[in-house]
Amino acid sequence: MKPKVFITRQIPDNGIRLIQKYYEVEVWKDKKEIPRKVLLEKVKDVDALVTLLSEKVDEELLERAPKLRIIAQYAVGYDNIDIEEATKRGIYVTNTPDVLTEATADLAFALLLATARRLVEADAFVRSGEWKRKGIAWHPLMFLGHDIYGKTIGIIGFGRIGQAIARRAKGFGMKILYYSRTRKEEAEKELDAKFVDLETLLKESDFVSLHVPLTKETYHLIGKRELRLMKSTAILVNTARGKVIDTKALIKALKEGWIAGAGLDVFEEEPYYNEELFSLDNVVLAPHIGSATYGAREGMAELVAKNLIAFAKGEIPPTLVNKEVVKIRKPGFE
Ligand code: NAP
Ligand code: GLV
Ligand code: GLV
Repeated sequence: MKPKVFITRQIPDNGIRLIQKYYEVEVWKDKKEIPRKVLLEKVKDVDALVTLLSEKVDEELLERAPKLRIIAQYAVGYDNIDIEEATKRGIYVTNTPDVLTEATADLAFALLLATARRLVEADAFVRSGEWKRKGIAWHPLMFLGHDIYGKTIGIIGFGRIGQAIARRAKGFGMKILYYSRTRKEEAEKELDAKFVDLETLLKESDFVSLHVPLTKETYHLIGKRELRLMKSTAILVNTARGKVIDTKALIKALKEGWIAGAGLDVFEEEPYYNEELFSLDNVVLAPHIGSATYGAREGMAELVAKNLIAFAKGEIPPTLVNKEVVKIRKPGFE
């Protein structure tokens, strides 16, 4: 008998087709998130689980899933999963790095460009007929934004996506500063990037882009003090996790001009609504679409499948997060 996997949302077919060769597959077809109560029922007899970042995988859930051996997260970030609890129980956790790096870096750069050049505001101005009504074809002082080429970018979290941002910034002739948990000397040389402390990065950058995972250490990493350190002409971009920024402090900073603008793909709660933030002209917003390209999403589906299949064959999954788990239980369903 094939092991049972429950997939908590429709993922691209290429992944499902691969998984079906090794697993009995059940997919939650509703577009909306699976209600917690239903998920807690579903996990009772599953051997494997495919999760999204919207599902909280905590002690309570793991407690109800005695047969669960592998959780294959359909995302690179896994802050929704209690890794320590999973490891203790010998449950393998995998994620989807690399396949979404370029797509997410593209979106971060798109937010940087759109915020600096006021693209969304400008689009609304044309589309609403305001341009025509005003009757001014071109004006030397109309819709002025911030220079990008040759400016300084500060990258916080210099991992896969952070370094992909640096490669893009290089093409824009930018000076590259970064701050990260560990120094990356090789990448530094390749990308001509300078390792600085957080305070220096915030003080000297014209653009600050966040690429750290959400952890206890990075929760509200950017708050009042940090926003105060930034240039009044600087733009903050967040495609990491909403909780890395203290939103209340950010709104104050944007309203009072401590910084010039923000491009946000992620929010403290998702889906998000905040009239105070949304009434501001100097923000560009997106509904967590960093990895939302056809290619990246198919790549993620394939990688989820590869992880599940390797595990079913008794092999160590290619992108295992909790590597210590191998000492607790061997991969496979025996
Ligand atoms: P990664 O390769 O693991 O890079 C994260 C970097 O942050 C690493 O270099 C890490 O340092 C550093 N870091 C960790 N904790 C830190 C701390 N406390 N202070 C300073 N630096 C710290 O991950 P990635 O693939 O680039 O992804 C980064 C994050 O982006 C994900 O965790 C996810 O939350 C987010 N993401 C969002 C979207 C979206 O749709 N918006 C899409 C993909 C990813 P070390 O090198 O020392 O480990
Ligand atoms: C998306 O946010 C991810 O972590 O993959
Ligand atoms: C603008 O359209 C210019 O030609 O400078």
